[in-house]
Amino acid sequence: MSGAPKTIVTVAELRTIIALWRGHGDKIALVPTMGALHEGHLSLVRLAKKNADKVVVSIFVNPAQFAPHEDLATYPRDEAGDMEKLQALGTDLVFAPAGTEMYPPDFSTHIEVTELTNGLCGRSRPHFFGGVATVVAKLFLQCLPDMAIFGEKDYQQLLVIRRMARDLDIPVNVLGGPIIRERDGLAMSSRNAYLTKDERARAPLLFKTVTRIAKALSQDGEISEHIQSGRAALADAGFDVDYLEVRNADDLTPLAGSVAEPARVFAAALLGKTRLIDNVAVPEKK
Ligand code: PAJ
Repeated sequence: MSGAPKTIVTVAELRTIIALWRGHGDKIALVPTMGALHEGHLSLVRLAKKNADKVVVSIFVNPAQFAPHEDLATYPRDEAGDMEKLQALGTDLVFAPAGTEMYPPDFSTHIEVTELTNGLCGRSRPHFFGGVATVVAKLFLQCLPDMAIFGEKDYQQLLVIRRMARDLDIPVNVLGGPIIRERDGLAMSSRNAYLTKDERARAPLLFKTVTRIAKALSQDGEISEHIQSGRAALADAGFDVDYLEVRNADDLTPLAGSVAEPARVFAAALLGKTRLIDNVAVPEKK
């Protein structure tokens, strides 16, 4: 079947279409996004197609997860490009609500997930996970999909959403997809568009650093030593490091000394004005 996927903008329309699909016994997957779609997003749509009969992609740049000093106004948008890419993948439905559909003027409810949000991105972006949890809870309840797919690129976000759905008994299976990277290792991100040519050339060092630390830790070694040298390498290349840490992959408990599995290395840094994040798993010790 060809043609652009049907795009709807109201919750009422979404519910009507979902009810129709449910009537046919279809399994439904939701892929929440903020648009400006790249191969990372599209890999999640492919995973959704593999696991479900119908795939809904939401596109909504969620004001609640941006602080006043952040990039809400300049966040990249590409409606035409997004539709072309989603059409090529056979997306069944695009849900692109306006701000007022999601947040009426007297909107008064906020969902806060604690514990998992204490460190990493939660420390420097204290507003962020509350905004994400609130909008994703709304999307889950509006769509009530069987499953929703999120990228490991935002690993902490994936765990926060999984915990939120479990805690609130929202019956949506939260699945994770692997990080999709550029040829030189840089994790794909809509924000990579902000990088200058020179910054773009240096950006892959973030991935190289977390990978080097993960490999070293899988062959033994002290976490703090590797973190220290990793921080120094990033600072030398002009990165302003927000965090570089090793944490338990299941509950994000900080790890020190030698690694107990399963572990991941997490990093966030500013390169010029652009905030980059990345993470990799520590391979199992042989
Ligand atoms: P956005 O940044 O548009 O990302 C949408 C989804 O794509 C997220 O699950 C993210 O982890 C995933 N993703 C982004 N880059 C990826 C990459 N290189 N490889 C694999 N997956 C990748 O994350 C958000 O939007 C928002 O916070 C949202 C969940 C939509 C709530 O507003």
